[in-house]
Amino acid sequence: MDHFLYRGGALYAEDVPVSEIAASVGTPFYCYSTATLERHFRLFDEALEGMDHLVCYAMKAASNVAILKTLAALGAGMDVVSGGEYLRAKAAGVPGARIVFSGVGKTEAEMCLALEGGVRQFNVESEPEMEALNRVALDLGKVAPITVRVNPDVDAKTHAKIATGKSENKFGIPISRAREVYAHAARLPGLRVVGIDVHIGSQLTDLEPFRLAYRKVAELCEVLRADGHRIERLDLGGGLGIPYERSNAAPPLPIDYGGMIREELGHLGCEIEIEPGRLIVGNAGIMVSQVIYVKEGEGRDFLILDGAMNDLIRPAMYDAHHDIVPVIEPAPGSENRPYDVVGPVCESGDTFARQRPLPPLRAGDLVAFRSAGAYGAVMSSEYNTRPLIPEVLVKGDQFAVIRRRPTFDEMINRDTIPEWL
Ligand code: LLP
Repeated sequence: MDHFLYRGGALYAEDVPVSEIAASVGTPFYCYSTATLERHFRLFDEALEGMDHLVCYAMKAASNVAILKTLAALGAGMDVVSGGEYLRAKAAGVPGARIVFSGVGKTEAEMCLALEGGVRQFNVESEPEMEALNRVALDLGKVAPITVRVNPDVDAKTHAKIATGKSENKFGIPISRAREVYAHAARLPGLRVVGIDVHIGSQLTDLEPFRLAYRKVAELCEVLRADGHRIERLDLGGGLGIPYERSNAAPPLPIDYGGMIREELGHLGCEIEIEPGRLIVGNAGIMVSQVIYVKEGEGRDFLILDGAMNDLIRPAMYDAHHDIVPVIEPAPGSENRPYDVVGPVCESGDTFARQRPLPPLRAGDLVAFRSAGAYGAVMSSEYNTRPLIPEVLVKGDQFAVIRRRPTFDEMINRDTIPEWL
């Protein structure tokens, strides 16, 4: 459920007409709903009720500081994967004790930043990383709390580019080597083992792969405890999918996910951490764009928008589907017709949808891409020297620009000219 609904024939973001925001900030832009963000965070928090837990929002999905602040106010922790994300979390006022640091290639500078600023734990992904973290911690006179990310070798049954839990993926250490690696960690005085970490992929629409992975983690927990390690925390990663196509069967709900976690892991008495990104912010955001031209091609009509692949890369990169809806509701009885929906970038891959049935649209009309809140703005680029598009946050009947569109001067003046030119 989200808060982007038609009222009186016009699309609203909570209590604000989307066309009013468009008139104020220009198109294209991203628009997020506070109520949806809060609702989705609470769904996870409530799903784990009764277990000691922390929901660490995977901020890679959408990292605007205003979004982070909205979630942090509800008690969210953050899952960060770079020094930049760590600093964003700090800028949003998140205490280090609620920040987990994930990622397969943490640099020593990033380790240093987090150790000095405070961190709940590092999710370590390899032995060389463990050695490096040990060195950095000892240099700073600190002890780094760690989990080791294990790769359980399960098939997440999702898009190949976002599956991470098979043995051929670069993530984590093979679960079969876990005892050896934990023994190694226990010998390093700069590290303190606190738990186990696992994350098998993103946009999972079935609980079974999670269940298989978590069962393996439960077994490992008992084995490691018997080896003398203190396993107090299980970080279960993110990955629960969202309904991108309203016509498809809905993925499992957070409450079912929480129930499964309780079944598989509840008996261990561990603190549970989860790292959802997409489910919190995906349906809390839309991208709004304007039709520039309707072009009649041979055997097909192209809807040419002012938004492009550089603004929302998911269709080009993962063949992802985003529902596209007109901002002004079509008149009752108007018949859909197929359009190829494209952007102005000079690549055939700049295609959002092929032969998508939509109501008749004209130049100047506004459309909204639904479910664009996760991995939308954060994956955008300035390709074709197109400015990063603004982000707007709505709360009730108010809205605020939370990232403005840069000016062309700002973009061009970042380039510096060598003296020989
Ligand atoms: N934790 C770790 C260690 C992760 O690698 C990820 C996502 C998450 C949590 C959050 O997963 P989520 O709950 O959002 O599924 N750009 C792709 C998705 C990449 C996901 C990367 N890792 C997309 O647009 O579909």
